[in-house]
Order: sequence, then structure tokens, then C-alpha cells
Amino acid sequence: MNLEEIKKTAPIEIQNASGLNELENIRIKYLGRRGSLTEILKSLKNLALNQKKKIGPKANSLRESLEKLIQEKKQLLNQVNKFPPIDITAPGKKKEIGHLHPLTQLEEQIEDIFASLGFSIAEGPEIEDEFHNFDALNMPADHPARDMWDTLWLKPQTQNLKLKFQNLLLRTHTSPVQIRYMEKNQPPIRIIAPGRVFRYEASDASHEIEFHQLEGLMVDKNISFANFKSVVSSFLKRLFSKNVEVRFRLSYFPFVEPGVEVDVSCPACDKKGCSLCNQSGWLEIAGAGMVHPKVFEAVGYNPKDWQGFAFGFGIDRVAMIKYNIPDIRLFYSGDLRFIKQF
Ligand code: FA5
Repeated sequence: MNLEEIKKTAPIEIQNASGLNELENIRIKYLGRRGSLTEILKSLKNLALNQKKKIGPKANSLRESLEKLIQEKKQLLNQVNKFPPIDITAPGKKKEIGHLHPLTQLEEQIEDIFASLGFSIAEGPEIEDEFHNFDALNMPADHPARDMWDTLWLKPQTQNLKLKFQNLLLRTHTSPVQIRYMEKNQPPIRIIAPGRVFRYEASDASHEIEFHQLEGLMVDKNISFANFKSVVSSFLKRLFSKNVEVRFRLSYFPFVEPGVEVDVSCPACDKKGCSLCNQSGWLEIAGAGMVHPKVFEAVGYNPKDWQGFAFGFGIDRVAMIKYNIPDIRLFYSGDLRFIKQF
């Protein structure tokens, strides 16, 4: 290859080089120890002086300009390596978006069912005072029934001492919302109150220290236990697509008389007995009963004028039955493999 040919082809090859390896091969081809331009430069010493003077400067300046071109191209290729070109035809990366927690989804479903039965939603604080969580629910201080709820008490703070109810706690159930609602409203009443509750107890497959309840309260003239059975049966029938059996067991809660517990046939074992239902074949999902006259008195209602029923469902337990979940702790585990199934 002579100088003219090198001058013509080398810059084009450098320009078209698509990678650093290719560029290096081009450099070797022209400027390497045996490169064509190097050979010409080496042969200068054999030329006659006038030829040397003519070709020498041309060959040297060509070498310089090729070195410069190679250097520039190298920088360019290095930059492209750092910021690879955007492939606008590549399919987009799907952004993962979260979704509502299964318990929240269920809570919304339950709210819809009760809304269609004419119930509205009430709310109350998670940090409660002793009066609303216990006293007004017919459990004055030292009432033995308070032991039914292992309570997480909050440390009294000096600035709270002036408050009327200085003993604060994490509410052990949603029943105080009944009191708060009745204090501010007159019957007829038809409300539900979903929310978080807290208990100082050991956790196992069906017990958590933090869980969710759904309180219900209906107050009117001539309300009887038959109204409660009818509301709860329609609710359960609409909530569970599969057939579950329901039973009512007489029970004691200080704020209702009579009181019952509502059990549903265990979905995990079909009443045969398993670890979820403590081998009993049944899962307790709610406490309920007719509102105690003392509760009406505590909120200023005349118990001779009004009757009502109240209930408190464990939402987590309902979710376990609906979705066949063997352990309540899965809901709070933060395990995405579990959460993503809903
Ligand atoms: C109560 O909390 C009453 N306030 C319910 C009530 C309301 C009775 C209105 C009468 C009138 P109990 O402690 O049984 O009752 O809890 C109610 C439901 O919450 C239980 O049936 C169960 O489904 C659920 N539950 C109770 N403890 C736990 C726990 N540790 N973990 C998960 N769910 C629980």
C-alpha cells in the first residue's frame, strides 16, 4: 500500500470501526510494528535525499493524523460503552405496583355487604381510655371480666394527669366505638366499626397480639335476637361462597345480655378436627348479644325505650375461613410470596 492509498482508506476504516478490538486491529494494520505506514517510514532511510525530503514529511504527518483519529475514535467508543445506546424497540420493563393487603380487601368487601344491609361506618381511636374500653361497657375498675382482655396499658404521662381519663391503653376490642358513637348520636342506629385491636397474649395459629375486628351495633325500638340472627346469617351467606355451617353458643360478655359466641365450621378439616380449630371442628369468629341496659345508661339512653344487638367479628379469622389460611401469623409476616396470591 502506498501513502496515497493509506491516506484514502485508513480514515474511513477508523471512522467505521464499531468496537475497540476492531479499532486496535486497524491501528496494527497501519501503525503496528509491521503496519503498512510503519513500513513506509522504515524504508525512508533507503531513499535518495530528495525523495526522503518529499515523502518523509508526508508520511510523518499522515502517521500523526491517523494516531489522532484513532485516539478520538477510541474516546468515542469508550463513551458508547459507558452509556449504551437506547434500544427504542426493546419491550418496556413492567413496573411492579403493590395492591391492598388481603385483610384490607376483605374489610372493604365486608363493608360493602353491610352497607347494602343499611349499615354505615363509624370509627374510633386505637389508643383508648379506660372509660370507653371498659367502664362504659359495664366493666368498672376491678371488675373481674376485665381479665378477659389481656391489656396493653400505656405508661401514664404527667401531662395526662389532668385529663379525666388518664389511664390510656391500646384498645382490646372495637366495642368502645359503640360507646363513642352512642354518646354523640341518638337511635335508631345501624353501624359497623372495623379496626385494629391489640392484646397482650401469646400468638399461635389462630391468635395474634395485633388483629382486626369488625364491630356492629343496631339500636331501635323492638329489636330482638331474631334480628341479629337474620343480619348475621345474611352477612355470612353473602361473604362465603362455599357452604359453612354457623352455630351460636351461649357466652358471657359484660356489655350484652344474653351473650353468644358465633362459630363457623372449620374450613381446613371440615369439622374433623385439626390444629387450626384446636381439634374442635369449629372456629370462633365473633362475640355478640343484646346490648346490656347498663351500657345504654352509660351513654344516656333509656333502656326501657331502646333495644339493640351488638357483635364483634375477628376479621382475620373470617379471612382464614374464606381463603383457607392455616395460620393467622401469615397475614403479618410480610412474606410477598403469600401476599401476592391475593
Ligand atoms: C370481644 O372482643 C367482644 N368485644 C366482642 C363482642 C362485641 C361481644 C359486641 C358482644 C358484643 P372476643 O374477645 O371474643 O370478644 O373477640 C371477638 C373475636 O375476635 C373472636 O371471636 C375472634 O374471632 C377474634 N379474636 C379474639 N382474639 C383474637 C386473637 N388473639 N387473634 C385473632 N383474632 C382474635
